[in-house]
Amino acid sequence: MIIFLIGFMGCGKSTLGKKLALNIEYDFIDLDIYIQDQESKSINEIFKNGEDYFRKIERVYLQSAMETKNTVIAVGGGTPCYFNNMQLMKENGLTIYIDMHPTELISRLRLSKKNRPLIASLKDNELSNFVFENLNERKGYYNKAHKIVDGSDISVKQLQLYCQ
Ligand code: S3P
Repeated sequence: MIIFLIGFMGCGKSTLGKKLALNIEYDFIDLDIYIQDQESKSINEIFKNGEDYFRKIERVYLQSAMETKNTVIAVGGGTPCYFNNMQLMKENGLTIYIDMHPTELISRLRLSKKNRPLIASLKDNELSNFVFENLNERKGYYNKAHKIVDGSDISVKQLQLYCQ
C-alpha cells in the first residue's frame, strides 16, 4: 500500500511521515526531496522557471514515486491542488490530511520559510495573509482525503492507527 500524507506547508508531513514509515517498516519518500534529487536542483531553483513549470515536474515525479509498494509519501503542500493529483493519490493509496490551525502553521513557517519559494520573501503580515487565504482555497482539496487527522495533537502511534 502507499500512504500519502497531505497538508499545508509546515504541518509536519515529512517529520511524521519518516517516523510512521519507520514504525510500520515502509519506505519513505519526501516528494520535494525526490524531485530535488532527480533534477539535481533545489526547489527554489526549479521555481525560477515559474510555478507552472514546477507543477508539471511535480506531477511527473508524483507518478514515478507512486511506482512503488509499501511506501509513505509526504507530498508538497500544493501537490493535491493541481491537475487531478488528489484523485490519482486517492485511487492509488490511502490519503491522510494532516490538518492544522493557520495560526500554528504561521508560527512554524516563520522559522522555516527560506527553502519555500512561495513564502521565502514574505514579511510576517504577508505570511499570515498568505496562509489564511491559501489554506482556505486548498482545504477543498485536502478535505477529500480518506482520513483527516489533527496535526497539532497527534502522535505517530495514533497516526499508525489510521493506516490500518
Ligand atoms: C509548496 C510546498 C512545498 C514545495 C513547494 C510548494 C506549496 O512543500 O512543494 O515549495 O505549494 O505549498 P512542503 O509542503 O513540503 O513545504
